[in-house]
Amino acid sequence: MAATRPSPEKSEIPGVSPLIDEHALAKRVTEMAGDIAVQCEGVEGVIRVGLLKGVFVFMADLVRALSRHGVQPTVGFMTVESYGSEKAPSGAIHLKRGLDVDVSGRTVILMDDILDTGHSLAFARRKLEEAGAARVITAVLLDKPSRREVPIEPDHVGFEIPDCFVVGYGIDYAGQHRELPYVGVVEEE
Ligand code: IMP
Ligand code: MG
Repeated sequence: MAATRPSPEKSEIPGVSPLIDEHALAKRVTEMAGDIAVQCEGVEGVIRVGLLKGVFVFMADLVRALSRHGVQPTVGFMTVESYGSEKAPSGAIHLKRGLDVDVSGRTVILMDDILDTGHSLAFARRKLEEAGAARVITAVLLDKPSRREVPIEPDHVGFEIPDCFVVGYGIDYAGQHRELPYVGVVEEE
């Protein structure tokens, strides 16, 4: 059977308005990989740790883009969870699934899909430091600076976005819409 490529129009769904299209995502991820590769030049054994689940598409693309810069991808994951509801996290974070790689003495690139209040990334960074990471570099695809509650500035940001709830490119709302190839805003009901 011949392979067909769905048109972007077909992948648009009711209740979600496109914010960042797939070409802009691909271009920015390639640029980020270039910046991260420069920062890691000459550093042995860099480990990329992603926060599941939302990071999985961004991380897959970034790791492959990094390999084009000759950076060998060693990857690990951890899952952190916020108490509260999906759209209104409480700020109290717990570790749902612990770190699956040994980071002691290593430089770690900690990656997440979205930096919102900052609680998740700050918590994960602390866990990596407690596990003995020599240096933690942070990289997020999306940043909502207006929502910050914890003073954390990421080293690498894909796009700054306003205070809105987004889905797609791995990011979900109640488990839905991770498969969208673009990032879209969930319209208020
Ligand atoms: P923080 O701890 O408030 O910074 O939240 C970061 C996490 O909340 C991200 O890793 C996402 O899983 C989730 N999150 C924050 N904003 C959104 C959004 O707009 N859509 C979907 N998930 C979000
Ligand atoms: Mg998350």
